[in-house]
Amino acid sequence: MSSKEWKRTALLPGSFDPVTLGHLDLVIRAATLFDEVVVAVLENSSKQPWFSAEGRVLMVQREMAALKNVRVVRFSGLLVELAEKEGAEVVVRGVRGGSDLEYETLMARMNAHLRPGLDTVFLPSSPNLTHIASRLVREIAYLGGSVKGLVSEKVALAVETRAEEKRAENAFTTRRSAE
Ligand code: PNS
Repeated sequence: MSSKEWKRTALLPGSFDPVTLGHLDLVIRAATLFDEVVVAVLENSSKQPWFSAEGRVLMVQREMAALKNVRVVRFSGLLVELAEKEGAEVVVRGVRGGSDLEYETLMARMNAHLRPGLDTVFLPSSPNLTHIASRLVREIAYLGGSVKGLVSEKVALAVETRAEEKRAENAFTTRRSAE
């Protein structure tokens, strides 16, 4: 195979609930390191996502639209099976600090056990984005705080709307259980 035909594909999986500026930074950096980056949105997260899989894929697609070597797919099941299907030899994961590293190392080793040869590359989060986590974005929005500087303006709008729905749902449940 000539060097022109040879394409190095990396898989960048996550829940993206919602996609943050930290994710975007990671994907941009991965897109400069690899020929192609497949951003894989986990469909059936055990974490009870705020946004549907369709909604998360659309949000991620919109955020990554300018990146020509980035594709967004939705997946369920094992990551190693998706890597096989997409012809990816590398998984990329962002690491914010020590506890991320511990968990990510475990996942990387398990994925390598399930599919020998599949390696994981850790990218340290950019220093100005290290505090960003989707879980905290949801919590801040739910409690009425500003998510500016954590997610894009469009995502912020979607998160604020969803937070309002969540508050209304919870108020309804609390009223019902008090009756
Ligand atoms: O954004 P997240 O929630 O930290 O992403 C976690 C993700 C999607 C990378 C992880 O849950 C995953 O790979 N799930 C797919 C199921 C799987 O392959 N499990 C075994 C991994 S060791």
